[in-house]
Amino acid sequence: MSENAENSGAAAPVLEAAGIRKSFASPDGSSIEILKGASLRVNEGESVALRGESGAGKTTFMNILSGFENPTSGEVRWAGKRIDGLSNSAQARLRAGFMGFVFQQYCLLPELTALENVELSSRILGRFDRRAKSKAKELLERVGLKDRINYMPYKLSGGEKQRVAIARAVMNSPKVLLADEPTGNLDEDTAKNVMEMMLGLCRENKAALMLITHNIDFAKMTDKEVFLSQGEITEIR
Ligand SMILES: Nc1ncnc2c1ncn2[C@@H]1O[C@H](COP(=O)(O)OP(=O)(O)OP(=O)(O)O)[C@@H](O)[C@H]1O
Ligand SMILES: [Mg+2]
Repeated sequence: MSENAENSGAAAPVLEAAGIRKSFASPDGSSIEILKGASLRVNEGESVALRGESGAGKTTFMNILSGFENPTSGEVRWAGKRIDGLSNSAQARLRAGFMGFVFQQYCLLPELTALENVELSSRILGRFDRRAKSKAKELLERVGLKDRINYMPYKLSGGEKQRVAIARAVMNSPKVLLADEPTGNLDEDTAKNVMEMMLGLCRENKAALMLITHNIDFAKMTDKEVFLSQGEITEIR
């Protein structure tokens, strides 16, 4: 359990999925059930690593947790509030200040500088002002990119791009960061550096982290490890 959760006595859940089932139609018209009652609870400030074989349904489960996909059945709660069944726009309004995302492919906007990419988070919330601008700069300094803030993404290395993406993800002080194989494209040393940056920033911001990774060593760096197999989630540490 994280320091934050311990200090607050009974830890409050920030993300909850209960009994999630998800079926997809296959090309021959039959239905394949990928998730068969998967449940997970992530507490405030807690970091959780989700592992599982390729195709097990990890990304599908994360998409359901973040409201991008609807479960066939089951319940999803953000900070105790049930969100499955809400309209896309209602979910989007809640999501903007609540969740940050880091993807394997970085997903920076290519026509914006590093700084503008980070600032974009606060623009989306309609909270872009002088304070936000200096916060974006501070975050880029915090991830070691002081000399790169005005670079376009194509001039940055993979590890640098991912550090910009992490700064962007925490810009709105989200309660939870969701990261789907954020180090999947990086060499070992760079990946470790990115992992440390991400965990450090989550700790400083008291943000929970939900991390999908294939890397056993990185999974061990989190507070809790869970495994997705046969459509269900098992806690392994
Ligand atoms: N929109 C869709 N329509 C049909 N099948 C889908 C759809 N999305 C995912 N699937 C199937 O669901 C299964 C789980 O996919 P998912 O991307 O969640 O796996 P994963 O655990 O994230 O794998 P990886 O580690 O390779 O990223 C796969 O067999 C995939 O083909
Ligand atoms: Mg995946």
